[in-house]
Amino acid sequence: MAKTFLCIIFPLLVIITLSFSATRADPVFLQSVKLNPMKLKTEKLSHFKFYWHDIYSGPNPTAVGIVQPPSINNTTSPTGFGQISMIDDMLTEKPERNSKLLGRAQGFYGLASQEEIGLLMAMNFFFTTGKYNGSTLTIMGRNPVFHKVREMPVIGGSGLFRFARGYVQASTHTFDMKTGDACIEYNVYVMHY
Ligand SMILES: *[C@@H]1O[C@H](CO)[C@@H](O)[C@H](O)[C@H]1NC(C)=O
Ligand SMILES: *[C@@H]1O[C@H](CO)[C@@H](O)[C@H](O)[C@H]1NC(C)=O
Ligand SMILES: *[C@@H]1O[C@H](CO)[C@@H](O)[C@H](O)[C@H]1NC(C)=O
Repeated sequence: MAKTFLCIIFPLLVIITLSFSATRADPVFLQSVKLNPMKLKTEKLSHFKFYWHDIYSGPNPTAVGIVQPPSINNTTSPTGFGQISMIDDMLTEKPERNSKLLGRAQGFYGLASQEEIGLLMAMNFFFTTGKYNGSTLTIMGRNPVFHKVREMPVIGGSGLFRFARGYVQASTHTFDMKTGDACIEYNVYVMHY
């Protein structure tokens, strides 16, 4: 009887005890959530069009260089490689800067290409009008600024744009070589609820 206990029942007891304590010790950091109580409606595709203003000139710039291009062998890269700007740019309904303000593009971009002028952009579109007031979209992508149309991914969003995914197409409306000021047309295609 003692032998049976040692060989069969004791190991079984150990296993049962261990599995119970393992269950109890499991932290509740991951749970599946039902979609309906979150009151999500059906997913839809929205298209927005607006103008993005990068202003370096004048007394109220919305874009500032925060890292200057480093010099290698006493020369700077012809593509500005290594330079970074921080932005808090206006998003307006029309190309005119004083047209209706829809929100702001906040973030930064850096010259990330050694072959051509190519930006890495990381920015949030922060909307401040109508039902989208307070909602954001996050854009992160590659922007070769001298191409006619540049496409960048929308990688997420908040507020009315929770679960957002999509893309933007940027095309230059005006660009002032001397000051660096630019007005860019953005077409945003985004899936959200
Ligand atoms: C810098 O100079 C060194 C030595 O002349 C050369 O080997 C190197 O390729 C140069 N680097 C660049 C980025 O021009
Ligand atoms: C860079 O310029 C400095 C000052 O003119 C000089 O002393 C140095 O040798 C230069 N370095 C190279 C790699 O040309
Ligand atoms: C947007 O929301 C902010 C903060 O809730 C509020 O102060 C502001 O008046 C709102 N703007 C519009 C246009 O609804």
